[in-house]
Amino acid sequence: MTVRMRPLEAKESIILFILILAQGFDYSRTCSCDQQYFCNCSSDHLQQVPKVPANALGLDLSCNQIESIDMNDLSPYSELKTLNLHRNKLKFIHKEAFKSQHKLEVLDLSLNNLKNLSSSWFHELNSLQQLNLVGNPYTTLGPAPIFQSLLNLRTLQFGSPSLREVYKNGLDGLTHLDEMTFIGSYLRSYENGSLKAARPIELVSLSLQSLFENDPELVSKVLQDVSHPKTLLTIRDVELRTNTSTESFKEVREGGTKSLSLQNCTTTDEALTSFLMVMDGSSLSYIGLEDVHLIGQGWWQKASCTHYENLHTAYIRNLDIQGFFEFSSMTQLGFLLENLHKVSVINGTVFVIPPITTFLLKKLEYLDLSQNLLSDLTIVPTLSTSFGAYQNLITLNVSQNVLKSLGLMSQLATNLKSLTYLDLSHNSFISMPEKCSWPATLRFLNLSSTKLRKMTPCLPSSLTVLDLSENDLKVFNQRFPQLVTLILTGNRFINLPQGELFPRLQMLLIQRNALRMFNRSDFKRFKNLQYLEAGDNNFVCSCEFVSFFKQDTDLFITLRDSRRNYVCDTPFTLRGDDIDSVRLSVFECYMIPAVLVLCSVIIIALGLIVITCHKLHVIWYLQMTKAWIQAKRKPAVGRLAEELRYHAFVSYSQHDAEWVEEILVPELESTHPPFALCLHKRDFQPGRWIVDNIINSIEKSHRTLFVLSEHFVTSEWCRYELDFSHFRIVDEHNDCAVLVLLEPIKKETIPKRFCKLRKIMNSRTYLEWPEEEEKRSEFWSNLRAALQRDEC
Ligand SMILES: *[C@@H]1O[C@H](CO)[C@@H](O)[C@H](O)[C@H]1NC(C)=O
Ligand SMILES: *[C@@H]1O[C@H](CO)[C@@H](O)[C@H](O)[C@H]1NC(C)=O
Ligand SMILES: *[C@@H]1O[C@H](CO)[C@@H](O)[C@H](O)[C@H]1NC(C)=O
Ligand SMILES: *[C@@H]1O[C@H](CO)[C@@H](O)[C@H](O)[C@H]1NC(C)=O
Ligand SMILES: *[C@@H]1O[C@H](CO)[C@@H](O)[C@H](O)[C@H]1NC(C)=O
Ligand SMILES: *[C@@H]1O[C@H](CO)[C@@H](O)[C@H](O)[C@H]1NC(C)=O
Ligand SMILES: *[C@@H]1O[C@H](CO)[C@@H](O)[C@H](O)[C@H]1NC(C)=O
Ligand SMILES: *[C@@H]1O[C@H](CO)[C@@H](O)[C@H](O)[C@H]1NC(C)=O
Ligand SMILES: *[C@@H]1O[C@H](CO)[C@@H](O)[C@H](O)[C@H]1NC(C)=O
Repeated sequence: MTVRMRPLEAKESIILFILILAQGFDYSRTCSCDQQYFCNCSSDHLQQVPKVPANALGLDLSCNQIESIDMNDLSPYSELKTLNLHRNKLKFIHKEAFKSQHKLEVLDLSLNNLKNLSSSWFHELNSLQQLNLVGNPYTTLGPAPIFQSLLNLRTLQFGSPSLREVYKNGLDGLTHLDEMTFIGSYLRSYENGSLKAARPIELVSLSLQSLFENDPELVSKVLQDVSHPKTLLTIRDVELRTNTSTESFKEVREGGTKSLSLQNCTTTDEALTSFLMVMDGSSLSYIGLEDVHLIGQGWWQKASCTHYENLHTAYIRNLDIQGFFEFSSMTQLGFLLENLHKVSVINGTVFVIPPITTFLLKKLEYLDLSQNLLSDLTIVPTLSTSFGAYQNLITLNVSQNVLKSLGLMSQLATNLKSLTYLDLSHNSFISMPEKCSWPATLRFLNLSSTKLRKMTPCLPSSLTVLDLSENDLKVFNQRFPQLVTLILTGNRFINLPQGELFPRLQMLLIQRNALRMFNRSDFKRFKNLQYLEAGDNNFVCSCEFVSFFKQDTDLFITLRDSRRNYVCDTPFTLRGDDIDSVRLSVFECYMIPAVLVLCSVIIIALGLIVITCHKLHVIWYLQMTKAWIQAKRKPAVGRLAEELRYHAFVSYSQHDAEWVEEILVPELESTHPPFALCLHKRDFQPGRWIVDNIINSIEKSHRTLFVLSEHFVTSEWCRYELDFSHFRIVDEHNDCAVLVLLEPIKKETIPKRFCKLRKIMNSRTYLEWPEEEEKRSEFWSNLRAALQRDEC
């Protein structure tokens, strides 16, 4: 029957939308719904179905106190795919409670208080794939077929210790069932065919507990229905102590079951012997024993004439043997062992297998003895090939034992001529011998968590897969020409190993090491590397590495782990940041060149400033300004007669000192009355700043006598004196300067900034020192006259 729905009108959609919003708003506090529209209201002390957004796809109401589901409690949620009501107090579910859940795929009603099951609940659940009804106190399944409308059901779990009766046709209609779990530990009545599905179910798990002992007839009827060559039958939670309890396994044999597993099972030597006899000649090829507690010592020889030609695999896990220390050597069990191809005894306190047993394992291809107590002492007899044992062994797993010598293991392995896979993980080898021998066939070696510190040439170069994870290795230097997969996770490598060592390597796992970086040249050394997992290392987020990682890694390899695991360790400021999110500035990336450029710019700028100052005589101007300011501050009226000690201050260049000292001074000072001249060399007060001295001297002199020569003009000192007197001349309208030209000076050669000198030379006459002797007396008298004039 198909139901056609009218498409929603616009108005209705809007109202619905508002409703959704309103509901989402109201109840978001109690139930959180995620972006996949899954609302988790687990463990919320709810007493009834809460309101959640109507578009919810999943609703987890487990571990609450809901007692009933009424007709309309779930009607808004027509999109639901998953509904979990595990561990509530459900007593009542309305017949039409699930009528709008056409899309429901998973329904969990386990551990509630449902006393009656109703087929009408399931009428509309056409899409349901998984149904769990375990742990409710209903006492019967039927009489009417309950699950008939669940046409797509794949997984069904039902039953409880309260279940008493199961009627025929219980699974009628379930044409797609793949998996069934049935709990019926106190079942009293079972009608033939009740658990027989339309086609064989792949996995059937039965928990019938003591019924095997108490009602073997009823158990037989159940086993008859579920035994089939295509069904993996698991019998759980059972105690098989006496030979009556194993009688019903006859049906398992008759049904042609090939795979049988016993889980959470307590058994005895007697029951096991009887079990083996009952199953004699069966087509059993797989037997599994998990969480088995054996009370006994392995005396099963009564069963020694049975036939298990098809038994191919024995899988034993978490075996607990009470009579462990008296346990027999299994020699009598040759009938059972000699056909085995695969044997696993995991976590079974095995410390040795005597050669007398191993020689029975002639066909063995796969032996898993992981999580046991094998030591260097007991591994020798256990792997003894003295009776031609293990010649077909391809896989050996001795992971998680107490082995200490890798050299010994290699020696023993050499005799296993077909050995291809060897798992030695979780032992304490600590060191490797320098040389080892291995079977030529070995391809896979697992040395994970074996506390190795250093690699030696011990390992066989024939390997295609090598797992050295969780050790203390730092250096890898052996060549493996065939290696395809290398696992170095959890070691202490600082660099990627050199690619040349592994010409065929396709996958490298090196997470949780101390890798600082990798680069183009590292990858180029690998010829065939495709996949890399290198997250959780101590990456140094340098600019080269960050940009290589962001832009170029994908060109070389595929990172199989999440890029979010690639995190910076240094520099400190970036510690913990995803490399992909790191942004480094140009300055950080080119630190040294940047500093160099900056310094050169500063030096060049300084140089330019210095040159400019020099060219423009800035310093000279500054000095001048300062002197000028000082001069201005002095009271101009202070030039009283008694202060004027000198007739003239002689300003001259050092170059012309000879003329001044030997000709000018004697000439002027020898007359009567003598002229008082002030010479810087002679009359300056020692220890005073020269500029002060000059200012002082000029102020104490009536006049300033300038001895002009080319040198005078270019000498800075002279310039200063000249300009200082300019100020006086200009400022006080005094005409106190007397110019003597020692040699002819072209006005053009006077620098432009001496515009005042130019002006003076233009505006007044100057005395020229004559070359000819006869004109000199005229010069002297002119000079004296100029010095004595009053208008200054
Ligand atoms: C819902 O939340 C609980 C804890 O409150 C958690 O144990 C459970 O796994 C969650 N269910 C799902 C489906 O995520
Ligand atoms: C539930 O089942 C019992 C018998 O197991 C029956 O007596 C009772 O009437 C049933 N209740 C309902 C509501 O169907
Ligand atoms: C049910 O099966 C048993 C054997 O398993 C048989 O003895 C009995 O007659 C069968 N009963 C019916 C009603 O088919
Ligand atoms: C194992 O089986 C016993 C009954 O033999 C049962 O009481 C116990 O709950 C089971 N344990 C588990 C973990 O299922
Ligand atoms: C079952 O066990 C009893 C005693 O424990 C023994 O007498 C009887 O022969 C056994 N039956 C079989 C079939 O082994
Ligand atoms: C090993 O087996 C024992 C029982 O024999 C069990 O208690 C223990 O949990 C098992 N260990 C593991 C790791 O499964
Ligand atoms: C060996 O046994 C360990 C522990 O039981 C398991 O994890 C590992 O996968 C096994 N190795 C092989 C190659 O099967
Ligand atoms: C090696 O052994 C460890 C521990 O038993 C296991 O986790 C790992 O998967 C194994 N490596 C391979 C490649 O199977
Ligand atoms: C690449 O990285 C390795 C370390 O992983 C380093 O030794 C090598 O100098 C680097 N090469 C270049 C070109 O940066």
